[in-house]
Amino acid sequence: MYRSVFGWWKWGDPTPRESARPLSAGHTTPILIDVATTSPPTPDYVMGLMRGVIDPELGSDIVELGMAKGATVTDDGWVRLQIDLTTSGCPLRAQIQKDIRARLTSLPGVTRVTIDWGELTQDERSEAMAKARFNVSQNAPDTSIPSTTKVVMVASGKGGVGKSSITTNLAAALAEQGYAVGVMDADIWGFSVPRMLGVDGDLVSKDGKIQPLVREIGTGRLEVVSMGFLVDQEDSALMWRGLMLNRAVQHFCQDVAWPSDLDYLLIDMPPGTGDVQMGLAKMLPRAEMLIVTTPALNAQKVAARVADMGAKNYLRIVGVIENMSEFVAPDGSRHSLFGEGGGQQLADDIGAPLLGQVPIEPAVSVNGDQGDPAALGETPAAEQLRAIARVLAEEYVPPVEMAGCSARMLDAAMAALDALDENESSTEPADATVQRSSSGGSSGRS
Ligand SMILES: Nc1ncnc2c1ncn2[C@@H]1O[C@H](COP(=O)(O)OP(=O)(O)O)[C@@H](O)[C@H]1O
Ligand SMILES: [Mg+2]
Repeated sequence: MYRSVFGWWKWGDPTPRESARPLSAGHTTPILIDVATTSPPTPDYVMGLMRGVIDPELGSDIVELGMAKGATVTDDGWVRLQIDLTTSGCPLRAQIQKDIRARLTSLPGVTRVTIDWGELTQDERSEAMAKARFNVSQNAPDTSIPSTTKVVMVASGKGGVGKSSITTNLAAALAEQGYAVGVMDADIWGFSVPRMLGVDGDLVSKDGKIQPLVREIGTGRLEVVSMGFLVDQEDSALMWRGLMLNRAVQHFCQDVAWPSDLDYLLIDMPPGTGDVQMGLAKMLPRAEMLIVTTPALNAQKVAARVADMGAKNYLRIVGVIENMSEFVAPDGSRHSLFGEGGGQQLADDIGAPLLGQVPIEPAVSVNGDQGDPAALGETPAAEQLRAIARVLAEEYVPPVEMAGCSARMLDAAMAALDALDENESSTEPADATVQRSSSGGSSGRS
């Protein structure tokens, strides 16, 4: 039996913020999947997830653009999607396909994913373009985060499990690989990112936008915003009220001059599932979640609740990172100080992969206090952290490749101009080359 939603989608609400809502107005509340079971998702849920897939060129999600036409799901978990692209030969197809697959194959109960590709009709294409233009020009943009940036929320059930340590170390490891990595310290009550990354200073605004503080690492760099740059002491943030905190996070999403070449934005979430978390999940439907937990088995229920919140907001759960895993003593003996198996247990419970186990190690703590992320060192924890960053970039959350249609057209145009330049004059051919190489790429990778 097929549960089909072909035809339910209508051009809906115009604002990107509202588009975070899963269904068009008047539609009944979707049946949400239970992450603890393995029954397949509903077609409505699948379409909700597709709202997290952004066409990197048009900057809107594929449901809003009318590209995701509908989904069917069989009882045994075969998900079939109809996706119509602006042109069937669009090189962005590979990127969109990767995003769709990443979101669906990791879902519990999904056994197979088939994408039927089609092409929008001329009218649909005009409508999609008009929609994209409208979003860019008329609406206040939902966020100032570039559509080519992969947004990864680092979340945990409770505080003290090493969420900030994992966020800052993964950010440093990704930067070391050559990526441009934003770090948003959304744990406003307990911000610690500036200290852990050794980034200090005042946030200044330019042209009405907050400028993140920058730290170069290897061939990459970090771009950091935190309440820590606005208040003097870690303690004084406690005086801020809930509503103001929510607004601060909203400003971090909307009013920061996140650079256009940002490959990743890592968000250090507050622990648990409060208002700030819900607000962020609604504002960033394209975000993907990493869940940090300890090896203690009894901590899993509270961590699973966070995964559940993510799933209910149609965010993809990328995987679980177990922190404070066994301590390896200098004599090589191993000690499971905080229990064993918690990471794997949680991963099994929510149907996501266990991405790595970071051992307890004084360097993580000491280096964090000194603003010198342990991941840049040579210890066993550093190796684990770098391995997790690598598997994220290579497999689970690869950066957006902007070998898109318009980028290619631009390249062709620049090549034609080059040829023209060469014919007409022989002076300063280097200019055109510089312009071209900075126009097509999206990353600061080496
Ligand atoms: N793998 C680890 N080994 C040793 N100490 C760690 C490790 N991970 C975190 N810590 C320490 O534990 C404390 C809590 O970590 P933190 O990252 O601040 O947690 P959270 O952000 O979840 O509250 C910090 O003092 C940190 O230095
Ligand atoms: Mg923290």
